[in-house]
Amino acid sequence: MLEHEDIRVRRGRRSGVAVIVAVHSRTLGPAIGGCRMRRYAGWREGVEDALRLSEAMSLKCAVSGVPFGGGKSVIALPPGIEVTPALRRAALEDLGELIESFDGSYITGPDIGTGPDDMLVIKERTEHVFCLPTARGGTGSSSGPTASGVLASLRAAAARTLGTEDLAGRTAVVIGLGAVGAHLARSLRDQGAKVIVTDIDPAKRGLASAEGLGWIEPDRALHTPADVLIPAAVGGLLGPAQAAAIEAPLIVGPTNNQLTDDAVADLLAERGITWVPDFVASAGGIIHTLAREIDELDDVSADARVEEIATTTATLLDKSKQHGTTPLREAHRLAAQRLTPRQPQPRARLR
Ligand code: PHE
Repeated sequence: MLEHEDIRVRRGRRSGVAVIVAVHSRTLGPAIGGCRMRRYAGWREGVEDALRLSEAMSLKCAVSGVPFGGGKSVIALPPGIEVTPALRRAALEDLGELIESFDGSYITGPDIGTGPDDMLVIKERTEHVFCLPTARGGTGSSSGPTASGVLASLRAAAARTLGTEDLAGRTAVVIGLGAVGAHLARSLRDQGAKVIVTDIDPAKRGLASAEGLGWIEPDRALHTPADVLIPAAVGGLLGPAQAAAIEAPLIVGPTNNQLTDDAVADLLAERGITWVPDFVASAGGIIHTLAREIDELDDVSADARVEEIATTTATLLDKSKQHGTTPLREAHRLAAQRLTPRQPQPRARLR
């Protein structure tokens, strides 16, 4: 059975590049999810990614208690092509036009490979876009709030698995030094943690040393003994082989779709490793953006909502311990409860 509500793929008439929108679920409200722009082996891989990522957004919205559904857009750049500023703009306009065809039932925002300035280009073709630049009246990048949400989740999880919220003197391995990963690495360093980072882009090594962060090669990162492992790059990095080799008691990070398969959560649990579901830990961006742009809260109140990820994390970890299940199973249970309402759900407010 097709689980997604709507999938649209188009060869952009300006760019010639594949632009894709996948809407997984609108049970709770209009679908939201960022725009990912990166190279894929082919457009089909881009579609596959959009399918997985939009499903993750449904779960993310449901566990966060926001009245929105899950969607995602992908601009699938072909391998060889040179991405000039003109091509980039053309592809964003093409995507904007496709998003407009959803009539507000899908709203985009930034994701890997895109930022607030790109949202401004999309806005030329559709109103349905979050996170415009602050200079243009938007809330800007969501990567700071996403990082704050991960830190809130990490505090709650560390209290339960390491016996303390305080990460001073602890070792953290951050995989991926993109916008969110860099925020996390700096913040943990400032808390007195020993931070080791990696990135597939070797140029990031200079940034790491300038920031006083340790460096490890990407292929060794997952095997480095640490107190916490923080996936902050692209997904699919945790499969059965990795689950068997990891030498950290705790994994929590912003990467969407970290597991190659849900069964990997069981393998991690069997080894005594606590894995906080990615769609729980990574919700800070949407929570903050919706609080600001839909509920019109100020920054401080929006930040306070992001902090609630700590409570969500604590509840899921406590329940999984109590029930002898995994945090993933408990998170799925919570999402399913909200996605199959027994009574009418309030829609006008966020919580
Ligand atoms: N990139 C964000 C995520 O994966 C998506 C997003 C952020 C969507 C902000 C809307 C607003 O959760």
